[in-house]
Amino acid sequence: MSEKLVIKDLAKSFSVNGGKLEVLKGINLTIADGEFVAIVGHSGCGKSTLLKIIAGLETQDTGICDMDGQAITQPGFDRGMIFQEHRLLPWLTIEKNVALSLNSHSKADCAARVDKYLSMVKLNDFKTAYPSQLSGGMSQRAAIARAMAPSPDVLLLDEPFGALDAMTKIELQDEVKELRKKEKSTMVMVTHDIEEAVYLADRVIVMAANPGRIRDIVTISLGEERDRGSADFTVYRKKIYDYFFESKVQEPEYVI
Ligand SMILES: Nc1ncnc2c1ncn2[C@@H]1O[C@H](COP(=O)(O)OP(=O)(O)OP(=O)(O)O)[C@@H](O)[C@H]1O
Ligand SMILES: [Mg+2]
Repeated sequence: MSEKLVIKDLAKSFSVNGGKLEVLKGINLTIADGEFVAIVGHSGCGKSTLLKIIAGLETQDTGICDMDGQAITQPGFDRGMIFQEHRLLPWLTIEKNVALSLNSHSKADCAARVDKYLSMVKLNDFKTAYPSQLSGGMSQRAAIARAMAPSPDVLLLDEPFGALDAMTKIELQDEVKELRKKEKSTMVMVTHDIEEAVYLADRVIVMAANPGRIRDIVTISLGEERDRGSADFTVYRKKIYDYFFESKVQEPEYVI
């Protein structure tokens, strides 16, 4: 498989209270075209910052973040992003929310895409509903349709199911799996849920904090159909759980 995203020696810091907070340091990661990578790590270790750099919403201080051999400098429709909260515009219907990401498409193509992606996430009966009329899971489905409608090469998911109940979460994990099969997009998902990471990912990136860095990368060799109750699944879950808690949270270091 060819390389889709290449991150090399990447570092990022923020100015906080007159001091410098090193958030990411020495990040090296290559993600193949069509790969599903999950990123886990303690709160504050820089996962969202890394995703935002790939999205073009933040810029690294040093190092490389390339997509298809080109430096990422700004957001683009070749990368879709889904956040923990759906971020749908409350004054627009679901179909209009999805159509927002399709400005550059012809009217007919836009309508066809809205239909296609809303039916993929099982919301075709709610096209004319407003976000306030949807449940949490349905709103997140709409957010998935909006992100996928322009057929992005890369889908970035920042704890997309973190606020959902356990059953809805499992359903949506299967829908994302299905979507990936159909669309063949590269997917990078930040999650706090180790089971979710093992269920979905080809590789799980375990990050450590202060500064945020890659602690370990675990390749999940479980094939396409995964059984959460199988012995192999449990071994992976335990391995990542142990890494996760080895990299204990320390107080952030401020360099004045
Ligand atoms: N724009 C900003 N200005 C200053 N500090 C920031 C900014 N964005 C993030 N940070 C800091 O960078 C660190 C990493 O934040 P980030 O949101 O990437 O963490 P995270 O791993 O996604 O955490 P969580 O799991 O809680 O979402 C935190 O200490 C945060 O306070
Ligand atoms: Mg975050």
